[in-house]
Amino acid sequence: RIVYLNGAFLPENEAHISIFDRGFLFGDGIYEVTAVLDGKLVDSDLHMTRLKRSVREIGGELPISTDEIVAIERKLIAENALNEGVVYLQYTRGAEDRDFLYSEDLPPTLLLFTQQKTIAHAASAEKGIRVKTVPDQRWARRDIKSICLLPQVMAKRTAKAEGCGEAWMLDGDYVTEGASSTAYVMTRDGRIITRGNSQVTLPGCTRLAILDLAREADLKIEERPFTLEEAMDAQEIFLTSASNFIAPIVEVDGQAIGTGEPGPVYRRLRQLYIEHAR
Ligand code: PDD
Repeated sequence: RIVYLNGAFLPENEAHISIFDRGFLFGDGIYEVTAVLDGKLVDSDLHMTRLKRSVREIGGELPISTDEIVAIERKLIAENALNEGVVYLQYTRGAEDRDFLYSEDLPPTLLLFTQQKTIAHAASAEKGIRVKTVPDQRWARRDIKSICLLPQVMAKRTAKAEGCGEAWMLDGDYVTEGASSTAYVMTRDGRIITRGNSQVTLPGCTRLAILDLAREADLKIEERPFTLEEAMDAQEIFLTSASNFIAPIVEVDGQAIGTGEPGPVYRRLRQLYIEHAR
């Protein structure tokens, strides 16, 4: 694979980062994951807008423009002949001798690489995903796409141990979001409910696009927190993320949801999203 690191395109085994990188020592960095379908970036503008926001919120500055970043992403897609998968971007504060405080002129580290992944025809899109709930043990600024993902790594491990493909994080009775996805329920009377954006969750790019498509399709949407009880009683539930687009959830904590099969509203939205992505 050819990767991008601080201005250079290199084979992955020639790309090296300092042991003093603040991303490594402090988790002082942010990231983005953008899907690639048919060799094209999906919802690239939304991801670039969120990237700029995350960098601004941690008091950083991108070393190049987002137009230049998109050009790098396209070059990586071409160089690696990537048809379907993701482009991963990581921005860290840079490398210098360890200290909580950093030099104001420290050049950041910017890394991008591609990963192959089946998304449009993923098995989970047909089979559905089982979810395990866990307490949301993350920090209070979940709107920043921080590289500090230990709570999510632990949540996914717990989920996997119970045969589940995603963890839903709970704040008391309320579902905040998935460990790496936005959470939705559809009530028995057809209302799609997902949390509004705030510091409590990551503002999903796929979420924005899906809600637009759902509105165009005249589906009813309520942006508000929902409880685990509402999820258990839902007609359908699903998740969205760049790496899954939209996927059906068929079971929560061992209990089947709705019919226990991927539902028609999910199928409709998935089709609309794939058309939008193409
Ligand atoms: N995760 N919520 C969390 C906590 C996430 O980590 C993600 C994405 C989302 C969905 O956001 P988007 O639709 O913009 O991908 C919601 C990425 C895919 C990851 O960490 O790999």
